[in-house]
Amino acid sequence: MRDALGAVQSALVLGGGSEIAAATCELLVRERCRTVVLAGRSPERMASTAERLRTAGATTVEMVDFDASAPETHAEVIAATFEAHPDIDVVIVAFGVLGEQSELNDDPAAAAALAATNYAGAVSSGIAVAEHLRRQAHGTLVFLSSVAGERVRADNFVYGSTKAGLDAFAQGLGDSLTGSGASVLVVRPGFVRTAMTAHMEDGPMATTPEAVAADIVKGLRSGAHTVWSPAKLRWVFTVLRHLPRPLWRKVAASR
Ligand SMILES: NC(=O)c1ccc[n+]([C@@H]2O[C@H](COP(=O)([O-])OP(=O)(O)OC[C@H]3O[C@@H](n4cnc5c(N)ncnc54)[C@H](OP(=O)(O)O)[C@@H]3O)[C@@H](O)[C@H]2O)c1
Repeated sequence: MRDALGAVQSALVLGGGSEIAAATCELLVRERCRTVVLAGRSPERMASTAERLRTAGATTVEMVDFDASAPETHAEVIAATFEAHPDIDVVIVAFGVLGEQSELNDDPAAAAALAATNYAGAVSSGIAVAEHLRRQAHGTLVFLSSVAGERVRADNFVYGSTKAGLDAFAQGLGDSLTGSGASVLVVRPGFVRTAMTAHMEDGPMATTPEAVAADIVKGLRSGAHTVWSPAKLRWVFTVLRHLPRPLWRKVAASR
């Protein structure tokens, strides 16, 4: 449960190797969060995050197996985590796969697998987490969406469509939690320099996991329902969303 000053005391990360989630948890730990559970499929990546969080001052950092692409396991993994750590304040849904659109064009099964991880995995784990937050009557479910879902580009439309679906799901779930004490925070970063984008040149307004983390923690403090990172992307996409399709194609192709 958050302390008397509103600081987060405990967090669960689904996709525990994520660099954006690692930076967010480190910031939360520096602001008195003491318990972090990293749930993911890569023990090595989670181990280095765990070390980083212990160094920052976390007293309990645990790692559990979690595969976003296995929805039939989600309810059980999440129930076991809430049983071991009642009253989790923040759950970050951070897993995601970018994929290579040109390869997905030749591999329908791989495209569907990416959609199953990014979208269906978020639906099943989100619904399971929401049930626990409802029961404990507090807690924030943070979804890492993306501006890629605000207006889907031809060069990554499978990924973009999964983020559009996830974003819509998260908004609806947040509305369904109204009055329960629990809430949802939708985060829409632009291009962030992490392992996911390491093979790419910087996109417009490229930022760092630490800058996104600062925006997320600010959003958690203020009780926001949506965070754009950087914040100016909100206004950029207010315009881009309404561009006529032929013009949007040119803008998207020129980046
Ligand atoms: N980087 C960006 O530019 C950017 C922009 C907007 C939104 N986002 C979103 O932010 C989130 C975090 O991304 P990031 O930038 O921090 O990248 P990241 O460091 O590569 O983190 C992505 C994480 O997702 C995990 N993952 C993938 N498939 C999984 C599965 N089936 N089960 C469990 N975990 C799985 C990966 O685990 P492994 O270590 O096992 O691969 C990895 O730890 C993602 O949802 C991403 O779509 C990123």
